[in-house]
Amino acid sequence: MTTERAERLKALYDLGVELSALRSVPEVLDTALAHCLDLTASQFGFIGLVDPDITALEIVAIRGFHPSRAFFSEHRTIPLRPNLFASVVLENQAARVDDAQTDPNRVGQPSGHPLVGTFLGVPLRFHDHAIGMIGVANRQSPYDDDHERLIDTYAAQVSIVIRNAQLNEALEEANEGLERTVAERTSELNAAKDTLARHADELRSVLTETVDVQEHERRRIARDLHDGVNQLLIGAMLELKATEERLRGLAQNPTLQDLNTEGDPTVAGELKTEETDPQPAGAELSAGAPSVDPTDLPNSLSATLGILRQVEQEVRRVVNDLHPPTLETLGLPAAVKRLTERLARFFAVSCDVEVLGDARRVSARSEVAAYRVVQEALQNVATHSGVEQATVEIGFFPKKLTVSICDEGKGFDVGILGGSARGRFGLLSMRERAEGLGGSFEIVSALGEGTEVRVSFPIDET
Ligand SMILES: Nc1ncnc2c1ncn2[C@@H]1O[C@H](COP(=O)(O)OP(=O)(O)OP(=O)(O)O)[C@@H](O)[C@H]1O
Ligand SMILES: [Mg+2]
Repeated sequence: MTTERAERLKALYDLGVELSALRSVPEVLDTALAHCLDLTASQFGFIGLVDPDITALEIVAIRGFHPSRAFFSEHRTIPLRPNLFASVVLENQAARVDDAQTDPNRVGQPSGHPLVGTFLGVPLRFHDHAIGMIGVANRQSPYDDDHERLIDTYAAQVSIVIRNAQLNEALEEANEGLERTVAERTSELNAAKDTLARHADELRSVLTETVDVQEHERRRIARDLHDGVNQLLIGAMLELKATEERLRGLAQNPTLQDLNTEGDPTVAGELKTEETDPQPAGAELSAGAPSVDPTDLPNSLSATLGILRQVEQEVRRVVNDLHPPTLETLGLPAAVKRLTERLARFFAVSCDVEVLGDARRVSARSEVAAYRVVQEALQNVATHSGVEQATVEIGFFPKKLTVSICDEGKGFDVGILGGSARGRFGLLSMRERAEGLGGSFEIVSALGEGTEVRVSFPIDET
């Protein structure tokens, strides 16, 4: 084997090692080009790749000539026109000239480029298509077939490297795209999960608040029944008990009526003693002689009757509060007027009721909600404002029903109420009623500057 052949084989072997090391593509191209120059004793050379539009050749490796940065950036793409260099790619076949300067296909060279004398160009191919070229130039003596075969062998190797790199690049792009999509989907999923969790939280708190409000409503009904009806009934029972005992006394000792013309101890006093004293009712009578005044019996009975009348009124009030019949029959303004009359009677708070717009019936849900808001707000005026005057304004607008309840009392700092004013349900239930029907709730108040509650419901005509 000649030395030259051995060298060529060694160079090919080196290139094989270089390729299998799979270093970066520019490094492999540079090494391949260096071998090509060495083995053909060329002065300089380049490797160019056809751009995707097949209109130009882009220089991807250059050796033996060190262009300035400006020169390289200006001339790194060579237009693919039929000429000495580009014909290698366009015609997909090797080209060899002994003197580029006298070649009929020569092209002028940009100033700053060394003069090209001998030249050998070999296409890079993939599936028989030219995808670029290796060009070597300025060997002292002309290039021969051996040189061409040699560069051709390199071109085959370089083509594989480039094709692999392109496939790899496409694979990486696809991978990156996939990873981006997975990341996007994951973050969308996480966002959806967060939204779901937030909705679940909101739902839980709405549920808790609803349960709280219902509980509050129940307590209020229980309080009304306890403070009103129950107390009155106890009074009536005591009164009846006392009457019953007087009648027993009379039945046992009818002559007593002559002995006892003085006033009795109060009936309630008598029975209160009995409440704390577990003796049976008849014990006192059989032990001694209770004072019984039969003339007092009618009074006692009419007192009982009076109490029962109050019971009847109280029951009517509670029932009315639970579901005001006027609201159903006469509508919101009439029911609110009735409410304010009762408020004046029970709490001495007087109210002006003003109706704005075209008063008309709206959906039962809106009417009940508006009524309850007025009721709660007036309850607050009576309990907290410290004044005995309030104004209620009911507005019937084309698309909304509004109520505003305003007092000029002591007001309060709305800010310190915070989101969860435990144990206070009035404002909370007003807000819930309004927002539950797609409306809005607003409270304007400041210390010493009165309070205004404004609620608006979208109109949902009946
Ligand atoms: N018209 C008002 N004037 C002054 N303070 C008010 C007025 N309305 C509400 N407030 C203040 O706002 C607080 C919250 O009112 P809210 O109706 O929610 O609860 P509450 O009246 O204290 O209790 P509840 O209505 O549950 O029986 C009241 O405790 C009071 O301090
Ligand atoms: Mg209240």
